[in-house]
Amino acid sequence: MEILTASSVTINYGNVTAVDNASFTVNEGDYFCIAGANGSGKSTLLKGIVGLCPIKSGHLHIHFPKEQISYLSQSNKADRDFPATVWEIILSGTQKSGKTLPFYSKEDKMRAEESMVKLGMEKFRNTRIGNLSGGQQQRALLARALCKSPRLMLLDEPFAGLDSSISEELYSLYRDLNKQGVTIVMASHDYQAIGKYASRVMLMNNSHVDFVGSIEEWRANLWQN
Ligand SMILES: Nc1ncnc2c1ncn2[C@@H]1O[C@H](COP(=O)(O)OP(=O)(O)O)[C@@H](O)[C@H]1O
Ligand SMILES: [Mg+2]
Repeated sequence: MEILTASSVTINYGNVTAVDNASFTVNEGDYFCIAGANGSGKSTLLKGIVGLCPIKSGHLHIHFPKEQISYLSQSNKADRDFPATVWEIILSGTQKSGKTLPFYSKEDKMRAEESMVKLGMEKFRNTRIGNLSGGQQQRALLARALCKSPRLMLLDEPFAGLDSSISEELYSLYRDLNKQGVTIVMASHDYQAIGKYASRVMLMNNSHVDFVGSIEEWRANLWQN
């Protein structure tokens, strides 16, 4: 079943075209990797899907309520320097967008607790996110993203800057989530990891979609950079 359909989607920054005429579909249950070199338009496309970048032309259809999407942005330092504890960060994931005052129900707190335990972060409950290692920070942000039991997770370079043993651990976490039915769309330039875990791959090159297909087709074409 299709859950996301992009038809000739174009996204610009001023006169720079970052995504040019992209067409693809994501099916429920996919582990869909967007591959491509730096600057090829992966992050912009994810931002277009969550509504952080306006779509200039074409059409993007999400076949379910947008609240069921969790988005983990490409790690930026500001996120990590934020003066909040692991618990506060995770709990904030239960907030619905549009609310002005943070108010947490008992149920929100239970879901945040569950998410924190699932990611093994309870021992860091009162630690400030800035004092954690890169892998632990990523776990805290992932716990936040999981609070709303997403149907679709958008992950932008979730392994950048992490050492390989931690990446492996996180990959198996994502794979487990995917097996539990969460659709994953992940932007990455780690072609080795893509070959190992994705079910479908889309290659972006210079803002264009160069290839969309199954992992078997991807391997057969031996896309390697
Ligand atoms: N905020 C921005 N303002 C202007 N240009 C941008 C902005 N963000 C990205 N770009 C440009 O858009 C293109 C695609 O960038 P991006 O989507 O970040 O690619 P990727 O995630 O594949 O590295 C690049 O040419 C980049 O320089
Ligand atoms: Mg990017």
